[in-house]
Amino acid sequence: MGDRDLTPPDAVIVLFGGNGDLARRKLIPSLWDLHRAGLMPEQWVLIGASRSDMADEAYGEFAREALAEFDREVSADDQDAFTEFASHLRYRGGGFDADDPSRIADAVAEAEQEMGGEPTRLFYLAVPPSAFGPITEGIGAAGLDQRARVVFEKPFGTDAESFAELDDTVRSVLTEEQIYRIDHFLGKETLQNVLALRFANGMFEPVWNRQHIDHIQIDSPESIDIGSRASFYESTGALRDMVVTHLFQVLSIIALEPPVSLDPSPLMDEKRKVFESMSTLRCEDVVFGQYEGYTESEGVAADSTTETFVAARIEIDNWRWAGVPIYLRTGKAMAEKRQTMTLAFKRPPRQMFAAHGLRADAHDHLTLDMAGDQGVTVSFLAKRPGPRLRLGQASMRFSYEQDFGATGGVQLDAYERLLHDALLGDRTLFTRADGIGRTWELVKPILERPPRVLPYARGSWGPEAATELIAPRTWHLPEDHEH
Ligand code: BG6
Repeated sequence: MGDRDLTPPDAVIVLFGGNGDLARRKLIPSLWDLHRAGLMPEQWVLIGASRSDMADEAYGEFAREALAEFDREVSADDQDAFTEFASHLRYRGGGFDADDPSRIADAVAEAEQEMGGEPTRLFYLAVPPSAFGPITEGIGAAGLDQRARVVFEKPFGTDAESFAELDDTVRSVLTEEQIYRIDHFLGKETLQNVLALRFANGMFEPVWNRQHIDHIQIDSPESIDIGSRASFYESTGALRDMVVTHLFQVLSIIALEPPVSLDPSPLMDEKRKVFESMSTLRCEDVVFGQYEGYTESEGVAADSTTETFVAARIEIDNWRWAGVPIYLRTGKAMAEKRQTMTLAFKRPPRQMFAAHGLRADAHDHLTLDMAGDQGVTVSFLAKRPGPRLRLGQASMRFSYEQDFGATGGVQLDAYERLLHDALLGDRTLFTRADGIGRTWELVKPILERPPRVLPYARGSWGPEAATELIAPRTWHLPEDHEH
């Protein structure tokens, strides 16, 4: 992760789901940004692959439209750069599996011949989990597994059983070193900053434990609804889409013990230990919600009970965290988009300020923002100015933008960082099978007997039951939002 050569070796990238939602929203814009930042290999080809047919030129237009739609409009000055970028793009329609891998195999062979040498083969599976097995078998059947790395989007499986089956299939074709299970939250700058904050400084780690922390919150409300993703979302729901995946991964980084080093293996070992110490989720500790109007969306069944909101209370039963409740919350069509991790500190042992404006639920907090203006906020009680001894809420903030700004080096968003890492062959920020297997075990009771789905208004903070779940504490967002 530290100093390394930033130019990846030559690569043929095959993007399954090449004309899908993720390709448009994140992957093509990320490749464009990496290309503009000079972080792509000297020679590379991207083969977009999907069922429907499209000519190479049309795929270039698809890419141009995706860039325009997702904040990277190609300006008049960028036309030449885009033409150069588009010259790397190819497209192959038709299916791909062990019975019929030839279209992609031929396209890879063609690209390799063009480039010469032995380029890395990077397969990116931006497809639903049910397609992971057949595509991996196709890679094996066509002999494309040589020099290959395969990136699997999340979720890897949909429950403990399908995870185990998928894991077997994938391992029958690939070695663990070739498998890149992505969880893009791990590529977020602020999440990596948790390691820096904790282990590069003397001031945070000594209080990062049950002696000083009252509770932890990991909060990821989203204002968008499911948009055009009904078919994915109906079979996934918020628990699989966000909790078992992103929020558990975030928690593992907050909670882990100091690893022996920041190399992939020691880091993944510590994350696995966190998952092993986590208690299995109980139905009474989980609130499911569904925003009003969800069942009227196109592609959603009128009687759908898919959850678009989850709040959960969990514990990590180890020496550092025993007895510290951890609250997770996420949902679609909520009041605001935020992605925060908050550590709420315990009250001091003796309260001298009760009569001086101290709110009953006041805590001092350390909050890390993973979205928007990423950074860290410390909020605490301070004396208000004036002749009386009255308390008020105060805060101090570190912001990536303000503190590092233009001199801070290349800013990569999560997908850019992880795509670049996969091209470099760095698996540090990817997940390991033992960790994922355990996360599916942790939610098994909830998947088997889900709690009742409670309605909530669009633009709200979810069902009232989520407020009750955390009471007498409150959901905390900095800047005086208390919900
Ligand atoms: C994705 C989920 O993995 O993460 C989406 O499938 C969610 O439902 C998204 O909206 C959030 O990602 P971001 O880009 O806001 O960090």
